[in-house]
Amino acid sequence: MPHLLHLDSSIGPASGPGASRSREITATFAREWQAAAGAGATVTHRDLVADPLPHLLDPDLHWAPALRPEGSTPDPGAEALQARLLEELLAADVLLVGAPLYNYSLPSTLKVWLDNVHVPGTTTPFPGHEAQPLAGRTAVVVTSRGGTYDPGTPTADWDHAVPPLQIVLGDAFGMDVRVITTSATLSEHVEALSAGADRARADRAAAHEQAAALAHELAAANL
Ligand SMILES: Cc1cc2nc3c(=O)[nH]c(=O)nc-3n(C[C@H](O)[C@H](O)[C@H](O)COP(=O)(O)O)c2cc1C
Repeated sequence: MPHLLHLDSSIGPASGPGASRSREITATFAREWQAAAGAGATVTHRDLVADPLPHLLDPDLHWAPALRPEGSTPDPGAEALQARLLEELLAADVLLVGAPLYNYSLPSTLKVWLDNVHVPGTTTPFPGHEAQPLAGRTAVVVTSRGGTYDPGTPTADWDHAVPPLQIVLGDAFGMDVRVITTSATLSEHVEALSAGADRARADRAAAHEQAAALAHELAAANL
């Protein structure tokens, strides 16, 4: 039965005034995907803000057990949590990631998740351990930015939230990474930025449409 792993990492609320743009768009994707994927389709929603993960504090846990240094004795609790996160990810036919831009980078809650699941020898091939179990599956990244980072503008290269996800999920895990972007969100809340409100509205509408269309495309691929 098809399964979706849905991650959210915005510290904004899911609904109401000031609602998180990434949360509302991931919700559209998840709802449409589940409706289109059939009665048996299931979703695991991991809210990395409501239920934050602890930092990864042992470098040995970056490696598959067979690649850890001799005598390595990771904390059993940290090892068990990592095993649960890996199991959750490996069970997913589709991965959905809400990834707002915070200080030009990933939310720290999402970075901790990435630190736990990017494991050479388990999720990423390593010499002698060539398996790439997530290869060919799709990761949908929904990113929301307060400003704009359009090609040809001075800040075009300032968004460092999406590139690490593309490298880890795409290059390292071999997943097909699809990105849905919505910009200028702060124009709705900050008077001084209100000139961007039309852009924000247009991006929001386009992102919901893209999310719904992609959900149907991916659900059909898993049927
Ligand atoms: C801690 C924090 C840092 C932020 N840093 C940036 C930033 O570097 N660049 C930017 O364009 N917007 C920044 N913003 C604005 C958010 O990207 C914007 O509000 C976005 O819509 C957040 O995603 P959400 O709507 O899903 O919560 C920041 C917001 C917060 C709360």
